[in-house]
Amino acid sequence: MVEARRAKHSDYIEWAKTSSQARFNLATSGVAHYPISELGATIDDIELSGPSWYGYEPLQQALAAKCGVSADNVVAATGTSMANFMVMAAIIEPGDEVLIECPTYDPLIAAASFLGADVKRFERHFERGFEIDPSEVERSVTNRTRLIVITNLHNPSSMLVDKNTLLQLGEIARRIGARVLVDEVYLEALFENSPGSAYHLGPEFVATSSLTKAYGLSGLRCGWILAEADLAKRIWRVNDLFGNIPAHPAERLSVVALNSLEKITLRARTIIENNRSVLDQFLNARDDLDVIHPGIGTVVFPRVKGCSVDKLCEMLREKYETSVVPGKFFEMPDHIRIGIGGDAASLEEGLARLGDALDEFRDKDS
Ligand SMILES: Cc1ncc(COP(=O)(O)O)c(C=O)c1O
Repeated sequence: MVEARRAKHSDYIEWAKTSSQARFNLATSGVAHYPISELGATIDDIELSGPSWYGYEPLQQALAAKCGVSADNVVAATGTSMANFMVMAAIIEPGDEVLIECPTYDPLIAAASFLGADVKRFERHFERGFEIDPSEVERSVTNRTRLIVITNLHNPSSMLVDKNTLLQLGEIARRIGARVLVDEVYLEALFENSPGSAYHLGPEFVATSSLTKAYGLSGLRCGWILAEADLAKRIWRVNDLFGNIPAHPAERLSVVALNSLEKITLRARTIIENNRSVLDQFLNARDDLDVIHPGIGTVVFPRVKGCSVDKLCEMLREKYETSVVPGKFFEMPDHIRIGIGGDAASLEEGLARLGDALDEFRDKDS
């Protein structure tokens, strides 16, 4: 019998690392980098070693305070990516079914596959505004399903999953003894308007997030998991496989960042709000892009009418020095993902160039 191949890489992440950069980069999904010079850190804040085994107490307390939970329910992680992996590693046995939304962020699929899961999918349909239909999830689970995986806000569309839908997913999971993993890295970008983590909706929910996207702090790798206390302990133990201690300067700087989050939020919110009006103007003027625009988040995922997206993206990069994410990386090859977290001037120019590239395609066809 031929064994099913387990994923050992992500084509999307390879593309993001090697081919997404451009003079006008609209392929990123986070807010522009926050500079260390603004953080107010001192040399002591990058002390190399400290008391950190299953958590660094000041960071545990800062994360717990931010998330409104007890420190027993927090597992610190190296970004949301590692957080997702650790949750899956603690829950999944080879051969378990893991039900993942489609489209989604590729490493979620790759991580489940790498861990030997039988990966199943359920659709979030463009025609239905990328909403989750709980009846479709209900039809797709079996008594082998151990984990249902979603992103909220949704990557790539930025759609918010409402509380009622989340509760229905929790109900489905509870009935079959499964959990719901909610990657909330983009929920942070709602700031004070966030409805709060799905973790608060019941013990079957496990939430992951980080300071990466909404705050421009990707290099800090300040991620976390919220889980009921027994599961949180098991997730901590997954760390045993990766070594004894984490990068302590990153832990200390994370505490500094969490203590300065109000200031960092102000900057991030201003960038996103200003850029959203630039995006709105662009989208309103284009009839060759079909878009569900929820008016929140840092990305949109329009369908491009009547042209090959791969060719468009190639020309956009080569001739117009601008990048967007080709929809094929989200299993929807007629779409592109546009990020609005960069600086306003680059976004404006990048969108103008995207418009020029779309016009060039239309003129060629007519
Ligand atoms: C849904 C989702 N989760 C996690 C990540 C990675 O987050 P982090 O940098 O915190 O690992 C991304 C990055 O694009 C993402 O889109």
